[in-house]
Amino acid sequence: MMLTSKNNKKTFTLGILGGGQLAKMIALESYRLGLEVAIIENGAHSPAGDMTKLEFTEGWHNQINLDEFIKASDIVTLENEFIEPEILEYISNFINVFPSAKTMRFVQDKFNQKTVFFNNNIPVPDFSSVDTIEEASKFGEKFGYPFLIKTRTLGYDGYGNYTVKNIDDISTAFAKFSSDGKQRKLMAERFVDFKRELAVMVARSLSGEIAVYPVVETIQENHICKVVLAPADITAEQKNIAQEIAVKCVESIDGIGIFGVEMFEDSNGEIIVNEIAPRPHNSGHYTIEACRTSQFENVIRAITGLPLGSTEMIAPAACMVNLLGERDGSGIPADVSKALSYGKIKLHLYNKKSSRKGRKMGHITALGNTTKEAYEIAILASQSIVW
Ligand SMILES: Nc1ncnc2c1ncn2[C@@H]1O[C@H](COP(=O)(O)OP(=O)(O)O)[C@@H](O)[C@H]1O
Ligand SMILES: [Mg+2]
Repeated sequence: MMLTSKNNKKTFTLGILGGGQLAKMIALESYRLGLEVAIIENGAHSPAGDMTKLEFTEGWHNQINLDEFIKASDIVTLENEFIEPEILEYISNFINVFPSAKTMRFVQDKFNQKTVFFNNNIPVPDFSSVDTIEEASKFGEKFGYPFLIKTRTLGYDGYGNYTVKNIDDISTAFAKFSSDGKQRKLMAERFVDFKRELAVMVARSLSGEIAVYPVVETIQENHICKVVLAPADITAEQKNIAQEIAVKCVESIDGIGIFGVEMFEDSNGEIIVNEIAPRPHNSGHYTIEACRTSQFENVIRAITGLPLGSTEMIAPAACMVNLLGERDGSGIPADVSKALSYGKIKLHLYNKKSSRKGRKMGHITALGNTTKEAYEIAILASQSIVW
């Protein structure tokens, strides 16, 4: 089977909502497979927008720009979860878009997402929606302190989370998540005293085929993913449970595309789901070098109905280290030669136009015989980049 464009004269074109690093890495795989890419983003010169002539720079809230983007595309996917389902519904009047509006409605609100998982017997931390300080303090009485207050929508890299240590903290959290006297929708969640954080990527295709990636360990610094170790150092039983749970999560939201399922291993070794991302995920960047088929290739295969590729690792172990912005200023490092002298690493730079503290500017992946070996090389290489 070959992918044919709706307009037979042009190359099959994958449209991506968003032009960041995830779109860039999907685009790299698309070009290798002989596809064309269209990008819609607010503003020019995004990491992926710079790669194509089919760049639409007014964003999807601009009707004319959105219509032009749809016209240029044969199928559409997304690289972040902050897109109104109505926009996806509109696009689907003309061409396929995955993940679907229905999936995004399940996922976008973390309370709705956890409710779907809970209803499907997927283990999640105790949680509740909290509209008032009184409701939050009742949650604290019932489940104990500390607990988390999370914004139900638009949270990322920990920006929507507040750890409440005692009853007095609750009003601070509520104040933090309100502006102009308007309270954002909030939820409370029991604090999981985790041994480690795990993640599993799952591809699920239009034809119902499923491909599950290895279970990895993720290490967050200030709530931002810093290191990923593949495979995670867990038992075979835990691995099977984590992979089964991840698949169940994707099925419960009827997901088509690629999904990153974030989990905790609690102090008893139980696996508990934190959240799902309906797109390529930072915890899956290692798959570019370490697996037969990367997460970025499998999302293309999944949404177009092509057979999914093998998720098997081609090295015993891998480690990915994020290059997080250390300062405000240029996004281009001053010197990478030392890093590149480590022969066993791959350097990825996203070409973001500016850097900011904690911003994801690139990443390094190392393969090794053990995760320890891969970790040591990846850390040394990342530290030797001069910003
Ligand atoms: N219930 C919890 N218990 C303990 N730590 C948590 C809990 N929820 C989130 N965290 C920590 O905060 C990080 C970010 O939280 P998450 O809910 O995944 O938000 P984001 O959307 O910002 O990724 C997690 O990776 C984890 O380290
Ligand atoms: Mg998260």
